Amino acid sequence: MEIYIDTANIDEIREAASLGVLDGVTTNPSLVAKEGVAFHDRLTEICDVVKGPVSAEVVATDHDGMVAEAEQLLKIAPNIVIKLPCIVEGLKACKTLSDRGVKINMTLCFQPLQALLVAKAGAYLVSPFIGRIDDISGDGVELIQQIRQIYDNYGFSTKILAASIRHPMHLVQMAMIGADVATVPFKIIQQMMKHPLTDVGLKNFLADWDKGMAMLKKTEPALA
Ligand code: E4P
Repeated sequence: MEIYIDTANIDEIREAASLGVLDGVTTNPSLVAKEGVAFHDRLTEICDVVKGPVSAEVVATDHDGMVAEAEQLLKIAPNIVIKLPCIVEGLKACKTLSDRGVKINMTLCFQPLQALLVAKAGAYLVSPFIGRIDDISGDGVELIQQIRQIYDNYGFSTKILAASIRHPMHLVQMAMIGADVATVPFKIIQQMMKHPLTDVGLKNFLADWDKGMAMLKKTEPALA
């Protein structure tokens, strides 16, 4: 499963990239607005750090406006992926841009039929928001299972990008179902390598090592 970071914060992106396992970045208008920086400047910075796909979302809601915005965003760097909402105009823009070879991430996907249509329109990625479905007592994980089955039934190559991840167990579930990508907030990326038994185990190993070496020094100084 590919791992993207879901943020527009450049420090978080740098830190996540330094782990050596980061495949891409997703941003959205809310995440960018939070940073208080110019959108294109921030995207340029992000694309300098991460060479994998970097999703940049349009704010137009009509076909022509989306295509025009996409054309500007694509000038920023070759790894920009255009993010469009799963609305009718977004579907049309997806088809127009995909036909030109542009990589499209169809966002705000909440039901399997949206995923079916955007795959037919040539989307590179579809972003089902699982956490937001769970937030209203739905089952976000089930949505990923449904899309996985539909895509596998018909051999669609659109990648399933599990978005709106709320906790590490979501990631375990995504990896088991076979989501192609998960986009993850920085805090959860940090949690992925953590387990209290690892920390306790390591502490004990090192303490035992020190004890053993101290003993050896006393009994066999030449070996220590
Ligand atoms: C994905 O591209 C979105 O930016 C994101 O995952 C939304 O997550 P949220 O529901 O936590 O805002």
